[in-house]
Order: sequence, then structure tokens, then C-alpha cells
Amino acid sequence: MVHLNGLSAVLALASLTAAQCGSGNPDAKVTGGGNSFTATRGSTNLYSGSDYRLAIQRAVDSIGEGQRVSVMASGNIGASTITITSGKTFEGCGTITAAIKSGAGAIEVTNQASVSIPYLTMAGSTYFGLRFSGTRNLTLGQINFNLDRGMGIRFDRDRAANTNVRMDTITCNGGTSHCVETWNIDKLSVGSVIGRNVGECGLLIQKVTNARIGSVDCENCATGTGYAALRFANEAGKLNGAYNTNIYVDRVRARGGGRGIFCVSQSGGAEIASIDVANTGNNAILLENCYNVNIKGGTVSGGGEVRLAARSEFANSRDIAITLRVDGTSVRESPCTVNKTKWNLSGNGRRNICT
Ligand SMILES: *[C@@H]1O[C@H](CO)[C@@H](O)[C@H](O)[C@H]1NC(C)=O
Ligand SMILES: *[C@@H]1O[C@H](CO)[C@@H](O)[C@H](O)[C@H]1NC(C)=O
Ligand SMILES: *[C@@H]1O[C@H](CO)[C@@H](O)[C@H](O)[C@H]1NC(C)=O
Repeated sequence: MVHLNGLSAVLALASLTAAQCGSGNPDAKVTGGGNSFTATRGSTNLYSGSDYRLAIQRAVDSIGEGQRVSVMASGNIGASTITITSGKTFEGCGTITAAIKSGAGAIEVTNQASVSIPYLTMAGSTYFGLRFSGTRNLTLGQINFNLDRGMGIRFDRDRAANTNVRMDTITCNGGTSHCVETWNIDKLSVGSVIGRNVGECGLLIQKVTNARIGSVDCENCATGTGYAALRFANEAGKLNGAYNTNIYVDRVRARGGGRGIFCVSQSGGAEIASIDVANTGNNAILLENCYNVNIKGGTVSGGGEVRLAARSEFANSRDIAITLRVDGTSVRESPCTVNKTKWNLSGNGRRNICT
């Protein structure tokens, strides 16, 4: 036992040490910089030349399932797409700069299993930074976007659905669209989404079921729009035709920007443990035609009103529960939701709610 414990301690330490981009012995590598890139697999040269994208794609294509490619070099792939297939681990250790390729991702994974991207830093402008559909067991680790224009991560609306998606920490600085836009995922786990000066949503959840979200933390996301730090839309949380709770969010923080939390178009089945929303330019919270949404605590300070609403095109909201301190802005429920909203409000915000 003593030996085993000692060994596992050593192994634990080794795996901690290994947990660094490009560390250990990646099966393939891209090195170089400026106008000169080299892709190697072991001692085999796969590419030497000025085309950063080609160097990366050659390295990715050279490895097999269970193997890893580390892109050590920084460079510019331009308006193009890198594709990654099943079982491969892709590490972006340098900064991968991209340009907009209309309708496409700078990196795409389509109909593949067990792709892992533990590290990535992407800059420049994108249509989609990372684009996914039909993935199974996809893992994203520490992903950083520093974008002028475009979107960080997109799961497609009109392509095959995904199962078992895990994201650790996704950070977006800038960009004109969403930091993370999901569609069609069953079993989603997100550590945190951090948005700073993002054009649209921090995290957008659509047709997603069985999700666990750690935190969404947005400063100046979606300014001047109806988007939000966290938005549920298009039947998010609708599971087998019902809205039993299957989306769990630990924490939402929003400062400034557009909306804080926005639930719309027949979404729900969601519970948010704690929120901290201040000075949003649009609604701090808007729930519109949503079913079984429970906000269990936290604060709203200033900004646009907390609003329960409904459009006539869908069934009225129902089974809403909100425990919240609201100061410096109003709370309005109109129309009254079905099954009487369970309000537990404190704070000085004016109220116009159904009791
Ligand atoms: C996904 O991972 C689970 C274990 O986490 C495994 O049982 C399953 O076979 C994997 N599916 C695919 C398609 O790789
Ligand atoms: C109201 O709530 C009850 C129990 O929670 C549920 O059975 C019923 O379906 C709800 N009614 C509507 C119209 O959603
Ligand atoms: C109402 O909220 C307070 C916290 O502000 C909490 O202590 C109390 O348990 C809540 N009451 C109900 C009925 O949920």
C-alpha cells in the first residue's frame, strides 16, 4: 500500500507537470514562426515552408487516434479551415490568428468522436472560431479568444446533434458575435465562460438538454442588443417533451452590457443557483414563454427591469420561481404566469407583480 500510494503520488505529480501546452512528447509538432514553419512527426519532416495552415493540417493529419499534436508556433491561417478527426488531441500553444471565412469555422470538428482541444488561443477575426456538429465526447480545455470580429465557439443549428460535450474555461475578449453559441447538445458540461466586451451573448444555450454550467461571467457583453450574458432559447431544456429540471447553472455574473439573463422561445427546465447582475443596459432578467425556471438567489442592482413576459405565439410562461434581492430597478410580471410565480423578493426595487 505504501508503495502504491507513493507511486500514485508520483503519477499525480507527473500528470500535473504534464498539464501544460505542448509538454512531454507530442506525437507531432508545428514549430517556427514568421514566414517559416515546420511540421514534424517524431524525426519525420512533414512540411517546411511559409504556409502556417498547411503545416498545422499536415501535423494533424499525420497522427492517429489517441495521439496529440502541439502547435508551438504562432502564425496566421488566413480565411481557411483546419479540420480535426476522431480521437485526436489538438493543442494550440502559440496564437493562431484567423481571418473571416464566410459560413465556416477556423477550426472544425464534424461528425467525430473523442476530439480533445486542451489549449487554444485564437486571435484575429472569425466567422466561427471553433465550429462543431455531430460530435461525441468532445473535450475543450482552456480556450482563449482575442477577437476583433466574429464568434468564438459555435455548435451548428442545422447539422447533426452532439452528445457529451465538456468545456472547462472559455474566455472571450472582444468579438462582434457570441462567445459560445450552442445548439443540439445532450449532456453538456461547462466550467466557466468569461466574456469581456463581447458583441452578443456570453453563453447561448439552444436545444440543449442535461447541462451543468459552472459560471457565466460577463462584463459588457451584448451592449445595445437584446442578447444576454446567459441566454436560453429555442427549446433549451425541453427534454422528452417536458421541462423537468435538467439544466443546472451555479452562477451568473453580468456587469453592463445588454441583458443579464434571458430565457425565450419555449425554453426552461433550468435552475440557477445564484446571480449577480448590475447595471445592464437592457433587462437584468427577461423570462418570456419559459417553463420551469428557478432562480434560487442573488442580487440585481440597477440596470433594466426584471421582467416576466409572454408573446402570444407560444404558451404563456409557467412554473417560475424567483428568489432575489432587487435594488435600483423595477420588477414586472405581465402577463401573470401560469401556476402563479413563486416570488421571494427583497430590496428596494418597485414591484408590479401578480400575487
Ligand atoms: C464516450 O465516452 C464514454 C466514456 O466516457 C464511452 O463509454 C463511450 O464509448 C464514448 N463514446 C464514443 C462515441 O467515443
Ligand atoms: C401547474 O403545476 C402543477 C404541479 O406543479 C402541474 O401538475 C401542472 O401541470 C401545472 N399546470 C400547468 C398549466 O403548467
Ligand atoms: C426567501 O429568501 C430568503 C433569502 O432572501 C430565504 O432566507 C428564505 O428562505 C426564502 N423563503 C422561501 C419561502 O423560499
